[in-house]
Amino acid sequence: MFEQLQALPNDPILRLMSLCRDDPRDDKIDVGVGVFKTPTGETPVMRAVREAEKRLHDSQRTKTYVGIAGDPIFDQAMIDLVFADSVDHSRVRAVQAPGGSGALRITADMLHRAMPDKTVWVSDPTWGNHTPIFEAAGFTVKTYPYFDTETKRVDEEKVLDALNKLGKDDIVLLHGCCHNPTGSDMSQAAWNRLADIALERGFLPFIDLAYQGLGLGLSDDLYGTRKLASVVPNLIVTNSCSKNFGLYRERVGCAMILAKDSAAAEITQKHLTIAARVAYSMPPDHGAAIVGIIMTDAELRKQWEEELGEMRHRILWLRALLSAKLRDVTGNHQWDFISEHHGMFSLLCLDKAQTDALVNEHSIYIVNGGRINIAGLKDEAQVARFAECLIEVTQK
Ligand code: LMR
Repeated sequence: MFEQLQALPNDPILRLMSLCRDDPRDDKIDVGVGVFKTPTGETPVMRAVREAEKRLHDSQRTKTYVGIAGDPIFDQAMIDLVFADSVDHSRVRAVQAPGGSGALRITADMLHRAMPDKTVWVSDPTWGNHTPIFEAAGFTVKTYPYFDTETKRVDEEKVLDALNKLGKDDIVLLHGCCHNPTGSDMSQAAWNRLADIALERGFLPFIDLAYQGLGLGLSDDLYGTRKLASVVPNLIVTNSCSKNFGLYRERVGCAMILAKDSAAAEITQKHLTIAARVAYSMPPDHGAAIVGIIMTDAELRKQWEEELGEMRHRILWLRALLSAKLRDVTGNHQWDFISEHHGMFSLLCLDKAQTDALVNEHSIYIVNGGRINIAGLKDEAQVARFAECLIEVTQK
């Protein structure tokens, strides 16, 4: 029976993870999957998470189900974290989900049941899992222009022009901050214009928010999301606590709906819970319970914000260091864009021969197209080796 199945190519990020894991070379550099690393190359459990986990261990008396929408404390904490005071919270509902991908998938399923004929628009390029998720839900997925491969920056005019041609039959997926894979985010002025265009054209904006706090800061990273929330009648936001709480394997995410009023939000939430019910029945609890504890305890929350700040500053430091090193090696400013990008990633626009050479000859694990996870670089020595190898393969 299974002979009918054709062999499939591996997901490029997952393939890179296992290649890197199996590579015995001591000097390997992993700038593949988006995971934060310390100077010793570890991805530690955050201190606030450890403490919350202890408290959970001591206080939890049951492992019975939490309910289809998840932990209400977690859901409310996510609504507060994302929307703050940008909108009346009675118009918002949330459903806890297994990671950002789980949140994307149940929302995509819910939207497809309600509006199967809509087209989903994703940025060119976007995270490799976006298109498969929306296609798996049944949608036709198309791209709008985003990144200028010459300047290595988002081409805001092209984005806004493309969105200005869309309408009520469209859903537009936007990266709230720290665009994956490019690292280039839209300016506040562009978000302001985008919000007006969304209102005027009537498309449904859908924000994926996987890196809040790792770009400019917890609040600044949310400028676009909150701007849209304050302008449009309907908005979808999916977020992830994988990176900003370091809870990767615990699978913690949330799907949030902003509707025109409380009654409409309630109905939409019900549809979302049905999408969750048929996908996995009930969400996992552990990670979301940890986030709930942190977000409702002033001291733990302060500690988490401090740790997140340390992670952000380390990324900024690595960006500045890598740009400076590339300036030293080349004598020009060609790579300065790396210090202007936000979050974990930058897209270096390398061809296949160049990324293959980095992987095979230099044991530098980099995603096809040249996306690097800056937060994967350990220390100054690794940054220097990375810069030298990059110049070598690009000048061949
Ligand atoms: C990434 O883009 O590297 C992360 O979001 C991990 C993943 O699942 O692809």
